[in-house]
Amino acid sequence: MSASPLTPFSVDTTDRDAVTHTVQIALGDRSYDICIGAGAIYDSASWQQLPKAQTALIVTNTTVGPLYADALKQAISETYTHVHVLSLPDGEAYKDWQHLQLIFDLLLGNQADRKTVLFALGGGVIGDMTGFAAACYMRGVPFIQVPTTLLSQVDSSVGGKTAVNHPAGKNMIGAFYQPERVICDLAVLSTLPPREVSAGLAEVIKYGPIADLSFLAWLDEHMAALRAGDTALLAHAVKRSCEIKAWVVSQDERESGIRAILNFGHTFGHAIEAGLGFGTWLHGEAVGCGMVMAAHLSHRLGLVDLPFVERLTAIIERAGLPTKGPILSDDSGLSSAELYLSHMRVDKKAQAGAIRFVLINDNGSAQVGVADDALVCEVIEACCAI
Ligand code: NAD
Ligand code: GLY
Repeated sequence: MSASPLTPFSVDTTDRDAVTHTVQIALGDRSYDICIGAGAIYDSASWQQLPKAQTALIVTNTTVGPLYADALKQAISETYTHVHVLSLPDGEAYKDWQHLQLIFDLLLGNQADRKTVLFALGGGVIGDMTGFAAACYMRGVPFIQVPTTLLSQVDSSVGGKTAVNHPAGKNMIGAFYQPERVICDLAVLSTLPPREVSAGLAEVIKYGPIADLSFLAWLDEHMAALRAGDTALLAHAVKRSCEIKAWVVSQDERESGIRAILNFGHTFGHAIEAGLGFGTWLHGEAVGCGMVMAAHLSHRLGLVDLPFVERLTAIIERAGLPTKGPILSDDSGLSSAELYLSHMRVDKKAQAGAIRFVLINDNGSAQVGVADDALVCEVIEACCAI
């Protein structure tokens, strides 16, 4: 990689090459590359052969924009005559129709045509919203993901799920729409709060039990250094996560089968997020704890032995994530476990009211299955903080 003088941190050329990787998502004529590197935003190599257009729009937020929007704007200004920047308020609460509309307002207010290219500079909230805006504007314009959280680098920027929330449910309005490319700059993770790093690690850990036990063992060995921000180790974690996600998405882009395994821990996690109120626990925190619950359910169904569940739980804990679920309560009179069940019934995987869980096997694979409510309640009670 060729470093530009803008690069704001020091990684020598040898190290830079060692942390540079490309992973391809194979989807026929919608295939694209995930480019991973330290300083990738500042590297002119990242921005070769961009889609041709007069106008580009960088969508970011009020936290990430001040840190990185100028660098991205400068990097792409050689290609685009007009580069606009839209800074949305920061937070899941703004991932809604009203703030999506601001993207369309800016595009239409500047006579942006159907070749206009959108750049999503931020975490999963900005990536999901920008992708959905790109899918809709003039029936579809190109977009590029520049994910700036660990979670978005290993999961949300890859695979084409785009959405905004509706008051009735998270990510309920959206589209499958693939980006043209994904640029993962490991250097931007240095400004990420530690709690967000841990949340991203939940989505990294998930790939181990569902697809690659040797990766899980590697994470076990290197967890402390990953949390401390070791660039070479983070590069491997992002690369391996993206490879596994690419393998799954390439087989099942629209989640009619195997893609559902990427939701390991998410069914219980969704109940935690919804039951506590979205934003109380971070998505990755809820997924981490949800993986513990889903692993215990898999054990109770005879799919995996208890020492494996305990080892997975210890790794999740060392990632800085909660492993005991919260007690849920409201004024309905339902018990905490019953409230978990009621939230899980509105999960997108549920069919005709039946909750479908991602269950793990002991050979590094996963499957979707159902379980009796009574057994699920027992697992929840055993896994919750008393
Ligand atoms: P986020 O986008 O809210 O980012 C987390 C926080 O980190 C925000 O405050 C953000 O401003 C800040 N931030 C981002 N990059 C930073 C940086 N480099 N330095 C300092 N601060 C930075 O949250 P997230 O965890 O990235 O994404 C969660 C969202 O992703 C949810 O809306 C979820 O539904 C979605 N998601 C989508 C998919 C998918 O497949 N599309 C998968 C998983 C999650
Ligand atoms: N994050 C799950 C998926 O992309 O399918």
